[in-house]
Amino acid sequence: MTTYETILGREDINDLEAILSVANTDRDEVIRVVEDHSDAIFTWDYHKGARPPLEKLYEKAKVSMWNGETDLPWDTEVDMEKVLISDFAQNSADGQSFADFDVTGTPFEKWDDKQWMEFGLESNQWTLSQFMHGEQGALICTAKIVETVPWIDAKYYAATQVMDEARHVEVFAKYLDTKMGGYYPLNTHLGLLLEDIVNDSRWDMTYLGMQIMVEGLALAAFGFMHAMTTEPLLKQLLRYVMSDEARHVAFGVLSLKEYYENLSDAEMFERQQFAFEAAVRMRDRFLQQEVFDRMGIPVKDAIQAVMHTPTRQLFQMMLFSKIVPNCKKLGLLDRNDQWLRRRFEELNVIQFEDLTDTADEMESFALSKDELASSSAAL
Ligand SMILES: [Fe+2]
Ligand SMILES: [Fe+2]
Repeated sequence: MTTYETILGREDINDLEAILSVANTDRDEVIRVVEDHSDAIFTWDYHKGARPPLEKLYEKAKVSMWNGETDLPWDTEVDMEKVLISDFAQNSADGQSFADFDVTGTPFEKWDDKQWMEFGLESNQWTLSQFMHGEQGALICTAKIVETVPWIDAKYYAATQVMDEARHVEVFAKYLDTKMGGYYPLNTHLGLLLEDIVNDSRWDMTYLGMQIMVEGLALAAFGFMHAMTTEPLLKQLLRYVMSDEARHVAFGVLSLKEYYENLSDAEMFERQQFAFEAAVRMRDRFLQQEVFDRMGIPVKDAIQAVMHTPTRQLFQMMLFSKIVPNCKKLGLLDRNDQWLRRRFEELNVIQFEDLTDTADEMESFALSKDELASSSAAL
């Protein structure tokens, strides 16, 4: 019998006390060493195109590269306060109140416009910082896939993704540094997930944790921010990153589809549990505990006040809009008496199961010929 205690370290998935007890203890750390238990696998089967969908992805990736230094309008003046005001005017329901919930009796009760503005700035900086750290996770995990996957077509493709992820880390770091004045440390829940993925010795777990779960969530989150922001540089940056991310998630789906068809129930159960753990850790990280801490208000009370607001619930659900259909395509939802389906029902995200999976919708994210032409003209 598997309990949540063994998977998550707590019995109740919504136990806020337990979630907040996991906090970043070393804010000044410069490097982190994480144990990687995998074997590096050479293959002597150089037959390119043995897996046609992966070969097609690889060829596509080679002609879809852009340059983070020269293709993005870094000379755009970004005044974050003005950006927040115009984002707010575009996206808020009434354009009036900053809070979409009753603040009476909450730590937000006495906040004035200045504090809400400060919160908006911190929150944006926190979000982009976690994107940047997640991108470094993708850089490392994909380098690991180059080493561990036994198929040559997958090694070739993963090598292009390593380059993509280097660009992603680079552009988020540059944006945070030059337009937002610095970044937040890695959120602990995201860190635990990245460590779990790197620790695991099985090559497919890297794909499941990174390409399906972390990048599936990133694709949805980037899409949300891309739609919400009125800042042209960030909008274009996200557009370019998303065009790569959709390919990366498709790489995960196409690689694991074949592999998972041949796994036993017991092996699939381990994958289902891993996917569930990843889903909960990612949901926990979006509580933004570090932002409330920096704002100097009681973290638990603040989270309790915002976690059930309509905007938060909608955002949280939407984060799973790519993950659920992709898990379905891989056969993860329904094996072992629909174990993962039941968990996703509990997380209230199962309604996304019939959306198009990313292997099928990938083309819709591709940069157009014009976008690519203008990027090579800039070189
Ligand atoms: Fe990325
Ligand atoms: Fe990626």
